[in-house]
Amino acid sequence: MSHRKQTPIIRPNAIILGVATVFACSAFVGARVQQTQGFQRNTKVKRVGGSVSQLYNDTCAKCHGDNAQGGGGGTKSLLTVDKFDQKWDRPFFDATRNGVPDAGMEAYGETMSDEEIWALIVHIRELQNKTLRSETAPKPVADVYSTKYYKYRVETVLKEDKSLKTPWCIDWLPDGKMLVNYRPGIMGVVVKGKLIGQVEGLPESTELGQGGLMEVAVHPEYKINGWIYLSIADPKSDAKRQAFTRYVRGKLKFEGSKITWTDQQDIFKMPEENYNGSEIHFGGKIVFDHKGHIFFSTGERGNGPLAQRLDKPNGKVWRLNEDGTVPSDNPFVNTPGALPGIWSYGHRNPQGITMDNNGEIWDTEHAPRGGDELNHIVKGSNYGWPVITFGINYNDSSLSVPWPTDDQHFKMPILRWLPSCATSGLKIANSKVFPLWKGDLIAGGLAGRNVDRVRVNGETIIEKETLSWGLGRVRDLAFGPDGYLYITLNEPDRIVRMVPVK
Ligand code: HEC
Repeated sequence: MSHRKQTPIIRPNAIILGVATVFACSAFVGARVQQTQGFQRNTKVKRVGGSVSQLYNDTCAKCHGDNAQGGGGGTKSLLTVDKFDQKWDRPFFDATRNGVPDAGMEAYGETMSDEEIWALIVHIRELQNKTLRSETAPKPVADVYSTKYYKYRVETVLKEDKSLKTPWCIDWLPDGKMLVNYRPGIMGVVVKGKLIGQVEGLPESTELGQGGLMEVAVHPEYKINGWIYLSIADPKSDAKRQAFTRYVRGKLKFEGSKITWTDQQDIFKMPEENYNGSEIHFGGKIVFDHKGHIFFSTGERGNGPLAQRLDKPNGKVWRLNEDGTVPSDNPFVNTPGALPGIWSYGHRNPQGITMDNNGEIWDTEHAPRGGDELNHIVKGSNYGWPVITFGINYNDSSLSVPWPTDDQHFKMPILRWLPSCATSGLKIANSKVFPLWKGDLIAGGLAGRNVDRVRVNGETIIEKETLSWGLGRVRDLAFGPDGYLYITLNEPDRIVRMVPVK
């Protein structure tokens, strides 16, 4: 324990060295990660702002229709499944900016900024979604849902209990007990669908908007070491409504009906000067790499620009040894001023993280309106937030363009959900009852109420389907020891599982 206290994740002297250094977005990793789309900014036209829907209705609807159904002067409908695909993002943008002269559509790049043109494409995506989402999602027939490889039904594992609000995360002990973290600070222990007890002595957490008691992750070698990892919104010692994401590990002691959290160790705790009163973006998910490391996320806590700074803990994916010390081969250990635990940066709010069967790390993260992301997490990379994003502002105004210019070395998402689904929970499928999904990424969405399956080959998506839509706000998902896909739902708060049927 004591050596751990002496090896804090931030070295105070390193911070002092870094005071004068404001981290430019890309300077550090330009040579390592280079993925641009050759995007040339239009510098002629300045951004005006204002409502995107209004702009669409005033400018585009006369030909493309109020709902993108087309019709005006023979303009074709955009409400087809093919045109909803993300591969059309850039061609749609280019068509709007450069015009389609043969078809009689003018070049809006003469009068509109890049940000506004992208926002119009987001608007078109939202219009497409209204029609197409319900068409493509599986619907139950006699309680059985049909998807590409499996038919399944949904079983309730844990019913709503009004005294236990917002289950956030689940995991299992090797003996089959299910641990359920509830955001207000409760860990329940569930056996065969019955809550047998609540854990006493958990670390203090504060339910501050999106944060509270969050992750619970049982160490893969639990039988040998007994460790369980948690993430919490950790309250500042003298201001309980200010918080930052903290990770601890500890053990559970079962004595009759009494269950106690013991042997707690800090894995990741930032100095309290980083704590703030923002109610958003805690990140909070962790994955073990089976080589002695953990990867985990912190959200940017409502302060986007800090995601670009290597001397700040906001908006990062981290890699530490399982005991919280810093591995010597981390990407920024020799960068003056950088927090040495950082693995990648420029993240907004990663609430899903997993490792695939090739040892590659993936995250899902919340974007603003439009453009949640599935990212392949590569050592030292910058994921661009808040400099570029697929999203627009919630108030219906434009924000950014999604593509980096040649001098911006950002790593692009492999998949963007547009409209946003509020991605939450990401797991790799290795289930004995769903063998045909082996190696696929399974992602949930809160606002989208969706569970999606994504198959990638390298960084190319080769299959994507919505497995479930509309059960509730999907807070987390995990394959149980029985191989079924467990889904933690909010509003109503319950846990269900997907069980394959013949
Ligand atoms: C005068 C009619 C007209 C107006 C106004 C107009 N468009 Fe178009 N647009 C067309 C036609 C015609 C096409 C060619 C494809 C078709 O027939 O749908 C097209 C093509 C496009 C495409 C490519 C679609 C594809 O299937 O590849 C996009 C995207 C697009 N328009 C967006 C916009 C946006 C955004 C606006 C408003 C800023 C706009 N258009 C205004 C008529 C128009």
